[in-house]
Amino acid sequence: MTASDAGCAAFDWDGLREIARDAMSHAYAPYSGYPVGAAALVDDGRTVSGCNVENASYGLGLCAECGLVSQLQTTGGGRLTHFTCVDGRGEILVPCGRCRQLLYEFGGPALLLETPEGVLALSEMLPQAFGPEHLTK
Ligand code: THU
Repeated sequence: MTASDAGCAAFDWDGLREIARDAMSHAYAPYSGYPVGAAALVDDGRTVSGCNVENASYGLGLCAECGLVSQLQTTGGGRLTHFTCVDGRGEILVPCGRCRQLLYEFGGPALLLETPEGVLALSEMLPQAFGPEHLTK
């Protein structure tokens, strides 16, 4: 998948979702029993992914998106352009509120998300977001 492919109408959401499903298969979710996988396209054509990793100290569990943004940084940074997330059945899942904020940092309002209600911009999923731009005002 390339960044230029991503610009056209025929973006391969099925392919990105398969990457998310593969990530989900690596989830460590013994406490919730709710594995999650996330995948995103980066503006240079890379794909990054992550799975949730829970902890015996329940509140320390990491969402799949945490792993995804960590992989984004450790593999060279860049901007997220397309994002999808799946549950343990491989069905499309909306990112939680905290993870919308994580995604905003690296994708901004134009990031496209595959949701159960169709493809939406992050600006629609996290309106009036607080972001890096506020810190420079
Ligand atoms: N979870 C994610 O990984 N991402 C989300 O956006 C929603 C929730 C995880 C956290 C926890 O391990 C499990 O799903 C149940 O809440």
